[in-house]
Amino acid sequence: MRTIEWDDGVVKMIDQRKLPRELVIAQFTDYREVARAIKEMYIRGAPAIGAAAAFGLALCARGSKAKTRAELLANLEEAALTLRRTRPTAVNLPWALERMLEQARKAQYTQAVSPVGPNYRVEQIANALVAEAQRIADEDVEVNRRMAAHGAELIEDAYNILTHCNTGSLATVDYGTALGVIRTAYEQGKRIHVWVDETRPRLQGARLTAWELMRYGIPMTLIADNAAGHLMLTGQVDIVLVGADRVAANGDVANKIGTYKLAVLARENGIPFYSVAPTSTVDLSLPSGEQITIEERDSAEVTQVGGVGIAPEGVPVYNPAFDVTPHRYITGIVTEEGIVYPPFTPGLRRAKALRYAAASLTGYSGQGVADEEIRA
Ligand code: MRU
Repeated sequence: MRTIEWDDGVVKMIDQRKLPRELVIAQFTDYREVARAIKEMYIRGAPAIGAAAAFGLALCARGSKAKTRAELLANLEEAALTLRRTRPTAVNLPWALERMLEQARKAQYTQAVSPVGPNYRVEQIANALVAEAQRIADEDVEVNRRMAAHGAELIEDAYNILTHCNTGSLATVDYGTALGVIRTAYEQGKRIHVWVDETRPRLQGARLTAWELMRYGIPMTLIADNAAGHLMLTGQVDIVLVGADRVAANGDVANKIGTYKLAVLARENGIPFYSVAPTSTVDLSLPSGEQITIEERDSAEVTQVGGVGIAPEGVPVYNPAFDVTPHRYITGIVTEEGIVYPPFTPGLRRAKALRYAAASLTGYSGQGVADEEIRA
């Protein structure tokens, strides 16, 4: 199944906390439960939590007792706030919520005359929101495939690729971002090998990326995060591919904690460093990465491994979940509209505008892309 699916009024998602030991499907019928699932990381990865938030809002609309459009919109705004507060760094979450709210506001103006009673328009809006959430999910898969096709051009036969965190099917609705590139290169017959960073503290690399790659049969080796520099210095890495949770207008990339260190090491060792990110992850409203909010998570993620304490009781802990890699360390950013190279700002603006024009989403603000730019 996909990482997240809508099934007749139920949101189903793979409970990623339990992988790779167990493959459990969690089911939700209330948006508050979806918000909790995002916060507690049943589902994680920027595009996946965007889709989860969208389905959460669809649940809110379906379950709403609102009698009027105005009441429903108020319910939706409140639910969107709850969903938005779950994780602050990945922009896909507010991006998807804003797209859903715009759909709801637009649906407000349909001129349908009620053939079946006073709630007809409320139900109409709810149905429109379910359809929009489904579109967001379907588009994610299509966009990942397009990014993968562009990114695979960077991968040569016999390449050793280093990756961080999990950017695969599990981090998206399906297929993946950086891992999608790796999958396509492999499907093209390239004899690649992947170095998988374990990705402390939550071990998304060891638990999720290793699980995915082994299922796909792609040659890989799991490494402790600390091993990456040694591998780069000794000529065992040809390219570094990571995802992104938010890309600022100047090309600064927020991604899983530890990404910055990899980028600096890659530069030092003359290794190309690419971020693979859909345009929904590009936030043109922020001039640079300095404005990106970095999520801080529970200290237990650092003091425990697999639920077992490894540090003295009461030790002070700092646990930032993401870091920002300054654009000067980034060779290129792979989007569904092509690979963007420095200077990043014009290329990112163009990619975002192309995307919105192609998707006919001109009613949507596009996070900093002006309507004229979209139409151009
Ligand atoms: O904390 P997580 O597991 O949600 O972090 C995920 C990442 O950092 C990914 O690299 C990122 O979302 C991009 S991949 C789709």
